[in-house]
Amino acid sequence: MIFLGAIYISDKKAFKKRAEELRRQVNYHNYRYHVLDSPEISDDEYDVLIRELEAIESQHPELITPDSPTQRIGAEPSEAFQPVRHRSKMLSLANAFSRDELNDFFNRINMRLASVAYLAEGRDNEPSDIMRKFADSSIPELGAEEVELVCELKIDGVAVSLVYENGVYESGATRGDGEVGEDITANIKTIQSLPLRLLHDTPPETLEVRGEAYLSKEQFKQMNEEREEEGQALFANPRNAAAGSLRQLNPRVTAGRSLDIFIYGLGSISGVSFSNHWETLEFLRKAGLRVSAYSKKVNTMEEAYAYCEEWRERRHTLPFDIDGVVIKVNSFKHQEILGITSKSPRWAIAYKFPAEQQTTVLRDIELNVGRTGAVTPTAVLDPVVVAGSTVSRATLHNEDEIKRKDIRIGDTVIIQKAGDVIPEIVAPIVSKRTGKEREFVMPATCPVCGGDVVRPEGEAVARCVNINCPAVIFEHVQHFASRGAMDIDGLGESVARQLLDKSLIRDVADIYYLTKEELLIIEHFADKAADNLFSAIEVSKERPLARLLFALGIRHVGAHVAEVLAEYFGSVAALSRASHEELTGIDEIGPKIAESIVDFFGEERNTQVIEKLRRAGVKMEQAVVARPEQRFAGQTFVFTGTMSKLTRSEAEAIVKSMGAKASSSVSKKTAYVVAGEEAGSKYAKAKSLGVKILTEEEFMGLING
Ligand code: IVH
Repeated sequence: MIFLGAIYISDKKAFKKRAEELRRQVNYHNYRYHVLDSPEISDDEYDVLIRELEAIESQHPELITPDSPTQRIGAEPSEAFQPVRHRSKMLSLANAFSRDELNDFFNRINMRLASVAYLAEGRDNEPSDIMRKFADSSIPELGAEEVELVCELKIDGVAVSLVYENGVYESGATRGDGEVGEDITANIKTIQSLPLRLLHDTPPETLEVRGEAYLSKEQFKQMNEEREEEGQALFANPRNAAAGSLRQLNPRVTAGRSLDIFIYGLGSISGVSFSNHWETLEFLRKAGLRVSAYSKKVNTMEEAYAYCEEWRERRHTLPFDIDGVVIKVNSFKHQEILGITSKSPRWAIAYKFPAEQQTTVLRDIELNVGRTGAVTPTAVLDPVVVAGSTVSRATLHNEDEIKRKDIRIGDTVIIQKAGDVIPEIVAPIVSKRTGKEREFVMPATCPVCGGDVVRPEGEAVARCVNINCPAVIFEHVQHFASRGAMDIDGLGESVARQLLDKSLIRDVADIYYLTKEELLIIEHFADKAADNLFSAIEVSKERPLARLLFALGIRHVGAHVAEVLAEYFGSVAALSRASHEELTGIDEIGPKIAESIVDFFGEERNTQVIEKLRRAGVKMEQAVVARPEQRFAGQTFVFTGTMSKLTRSEAEAIVKSMGAKASSSVSKKTAYVVAGEEAGSKYAKAKSLGVKILTEEEFMGLING
């Protein structure tokens, strides 16, 4: 259908018609892709349509219309943004920060609506009665259930106002002071999900809509990564990044930023009318505008509050930032009765979540030495409440991170605590510097033992290299005895500290040589406690091999990797002999882990500790489960298209059990690409790289030997 093509059409009228048809199709598919998230045609088919349209337009420039999908990034960079007066004022919202404040809002609207209803009943000669009724705040009885509300997510982006004239996108502006904003027509036009022409057959004469332009979390991350690579200052959050992108004088820059938009309401309109907000949203959605699907119509305050609570907890699962929930009275008649104050409507409120970003002062940078000797800087902050809890410390990860963010001691900094995430410093506020701030330098010696601190080339982490560093041993003893490791009940932080301070142990193996008498030296330890610890130590000798491997504290060997290794090797001795190649041949073991294991066993002190553990009677092996043939060890398979006898995950499981890896992308290193029905781009890529391609039948033949 696409190739009705330009070639057969000769006269101008026909070109014009064809261009219109192409625009209609492109707009429709654009809408399916960007707004509904459900494309009907492939990217390639879409490109064919666009290319045909471009061809017609380049031959007949007079046919180009401003709403043509080819014109999204048309405009030239400008010198400055022009002021524009909004057709109707852009209001802001009053905030509620607690359930009580939400209650006040509901009570206020109920009171006003009820009093109007009361007066309308012709009982306006009894105002004192009404007041009495409200005074005891038994409001619900006045018909709270009848006030329909709409709950919406409060998108954390930049408020914008857009105008469509007879269905065609005319202009876009920032909020400004609510009456006059800045003209960002060209920048808004680069937003792919924004229809340049509404889908209605008979669009309203004027449609001014309001919405929030924003940057998704993913786009924000990507953008900051790119900026970091280019040595540019990072944006603190998606909102700042969106604002920055919208205020680019060159629309081409904005286009590269992949902004998106949600439309949530009306400005001034002519040629249509609505009776409530919900209906408006439906209308806007049908017009092809991107309206949030998370909105919900409710009837009671409890439901509205439940919506707020639900999204307060689930906000981190969304692909974009929200900073609260907006609750709006649905009926326009109700809205009219409630009216507006000087700045904000009385019929809506923003329920704001606790802020996840705050500013505070960085007082100092403290250094901690971990189990692997890693010297980690921690920020000491003036205590501040973020997302509901007091924060006085934040991780700084490493020296580079401090340099990269240009964080100095004494800086006022933005800190962030998103969800369960550990608090972190986002950025310093450079404008608040006084000149007294100090740059951080990683010391050359360990703050605990005075040993050398070394940072190997290419690594971000500096480490104390003294294997006898008390801080390292202390951390290791605690890890060794912890729940997921050897699980020695009673050997917590304070006992570990004393055992080391009193020189009763020097390494983890010494734990198994402690006598009951020695344990009695521990402060507050009576016979019973010493007995208990003694038997807990005995019992721990029998822990499964995986626990021991985890307890040894080999870098990058967490509980799961330890399980994999235990199952594969069956003993500490076998693992200690494994080569780098053998290790990387195992599913889930990458080069980093392999290197760290080889290094660990290459260190004499470690083998001594293991020998001591063995002599003490700590279990060092387990039965090896018979392994299937590892015929494809080290090879990678890629499956593409649909197979008739196996699902993709079944096929992947088979090759994995034979030692191979399954990947989703083709590279030169891919051993085989197995192509089922309707194999797509991976097939083509394999072909161009010269990777061996198998049919399903050939694949079955291969695995069956
Ligand atoms: S309604 C008169 N609905 O929050 C009603 N605002 O001060 C005006 N915002 O910057 C706003 N999501 O852009 C409304 N679903 C939503 C919203 C929303 C985000 C922004 C708005 C403004 C601020 C409200």
